[in-house]
Amino acid sequence: MQDLSGNAYIVTGASKGFGRAISAALLAAGAQVGMIARNAETLRQAVEELGGERLLGLAADVFDSEQIAAAFAQIKAGFGRLDGLVNNAGLAHPSSVEHLRREQVLQQVNTNYLGVVFCCQAVIPLLRGTDNPRIVNISSASAWHLDEMAHLSIYASSKAAVERFSRDLALELQPDGIGVTCIRPGAAVTGFAANWDMEKFTAAVQSWQRSGPHMNIGMTVQEVAETVLHCLRQPRHVAVDLLEVRPKQLVDKLKIQ
Ligand SMILES: NC(=O)c1ccc[n+]([C@@H]2O[C@H](COP(=O)([O-])OP(=O)(O)OC[C@H]3O[C@@H](n4cnc5c(N)ncnc54)[C@H](OP(=O)(O)O)[C@@H]3O)[C@@H](O)[C@H]2O)c1
Repeated sequence: MQDLSGNAYIVTGASKGFGRAISAALLAAGAQVGMIARNAETLRQAVEELGGERLLGLAADVFDSEQIAAAFAQIKAGFGRLDGLVNNAGLAHPSSVEHLRREQVLQQVNTNYLGVVFCCQAVIPLLRGTDNPRIVNISSASAWHLDEMAHLSIYASSKAAVERFSRDLALELQPDGIGVTCIRPGAAVTGFAANWDMEKFTAAVQSWQRSGPHMNIGMTVQEVAETVLHCLRQPRHVAVDLLEVRPKQLVDKLKIQ
């Protein structure tokens, strides 16, 4: 396995949840981390709390190609190198299809799918010629497992699009030696549901509870972060294409409000 110390990575959606844990794990492994999120104040706080001179936080929206190109170039210039990108930024608006608002459909597709596309476009020229360059795209178990949660049709299909896109990208980037990995995490407790519409979320939970009595839960953000580092540490001639990691502890869905 490769030593990540001294390497430089960009993590999107880095101010909270998985992205913050991935940034912390990379920092602990001796790497330098460019952290991207939209809200500058939340990002500043995360950078301050994680500490260390090897962090650079830049506010940018993954859907805004110009902002992303400028931020990625600044990160590479600041660290003097770039070894990889973790496309982690993502969000969901649980709702039945009938009641989804147009802007909720667009925001999920723009962030979860097109944001990944635009960030990959921006990073490819910056990674070319690097020793062991990697792109890791964060999908979701809900892309393939219908029992993860109900009323996530657009979220889950935007993640399925990321997976299909990643396969093509991996093939395209083989001549450049850029490894592309898709990680499909199961449920973990983060702030992911913080802005969800409570009425629609309750309807989704009720529908989901009717589909079976149990769910898998109990994975921590640190465990997901370690999975990302495992993929980044692969030797030059190896790439993890697709990795699904899910909690195996069963809990009674009816106890979840
Ligand atoms: N939590 C789970 O159980 C779970 C399971 C499977 C997969 N995932 C996936 O894992 C990833 C992280 O989820 P999480 O649970 O850690 O979410 P989270 O706690 O809500 O954090 C999301 C992060 O993404 C940033 N973000 C959102 N939209 C953005 C945009 N347009 N541009 C740049 N940054 C953006 C947020 O900051 P700002 O709002 O300031 O931009 C925040 O830093 C997502 O892709 C999610 O789909 C989560």
